[in-house]
Amino acid sequence: MSLAAVETPQHHFPSSRKSKSKTNTKAKKQSSRDQQLYNIFSDIQTLYTSSKLSQTVTKHITSTFTKSTTTPIKTLLSLGLGSPTTPSKNQSRILKQLAIFLAISTSLEAGGHSVQLYAQDPIFTRADESFLSSLGISISRTTRGSELGEAVSLIDSSTVVYSPFLTLEAYEALLLHGAAGEKVRYLIGDDFEKLMAKWPKFSEERKQVTRLVKGAVGAYRRRALGGDGFWEEDDVAFPMALYERGDAGMVKAKM
Ligand SMILES: C[S@@+](CC[C@H](N)C(=O)[O-])C[C@H]1O[C@@H](n2cnc3c(N)ncnc32)[C@H](O)[C@@H]1O
Repeated sequence: MSLAAVETPQHHFPSSRKSKSKTNTKAKKQSSRDQQLYNIFSDIQTLYTSSKLSQTVTKHITSTFTKSTTTPIKTLLSLGLGSPTTPSKNQSRILKQLAIFLAISTSLEAGGHSVQLYAQDPIFTRADESFLSSLGISISRTTRGSELGEAVSLIDSSTVVYSPFLTLEAYEALLLHGAAGEKVRYLIGDDFEKLMAKWPKFSEERKQVTRLVKGAVGAYRRRALGGDGFWEEDDVAFPMALYERGDAGMVKAKM
């Protein structure tokens, strides 16, 4: 039944009619904004597929997860995506990070893994949550950045954590302080080698990165995820890397 068919006749309830028509206009605007977002996102996915970056990522995902993995990957968990639906100067970068996330899941599925997708960010809005769930991504929750919240129960050796541009505080919660640290076997996120160089020598951030590298990331094998054709200067994207820890955490890092 169309919306027009259930509208109340105007001569009986004029104010209600007015507010319904306002609601309809609002709903139409919202749905055209949603459609616009899906179109933009679809263009971004197409751009990614044709980029060199996608070739590098696919190559490393294939070699890491199809040839050498003994444990099947069951969970792909995004931490710190930001808000994909809120218009901002970061929106393009966030949608691009989301496109990479979905492409990684496609590569994992192609390699025989059956993967559940989750995303967690305390700033997600309802619109973000419904956009992400329309893409097959479930929401995991935390109330504070310094805590991993529900993500803790999703992380084990069959989980790939995806965390481009995650806060250093949340990286500390993930890798150093909490119950999850020892369980993070695969991490696709910021390139810590570049993070180290980003911060001035005696800054608090440099100390945090050093603690992360010495306390955790230094034990992982690093594969840089570079390649052009996707990121633009306006995205202000940060270099990414794939980290893999050996069974006993003894894989020598190439840092
Ligand atoms: C620097 S922003 C990056 C956002 C986005 N990825 C980008 O490139 O613009 C870091 C994000 O991490 C999120 N965050 C902080 N603590 C978190 C936690 N414990 N779990 C998940 N996300 C967290 C913040 O809310 C924020 O959106």
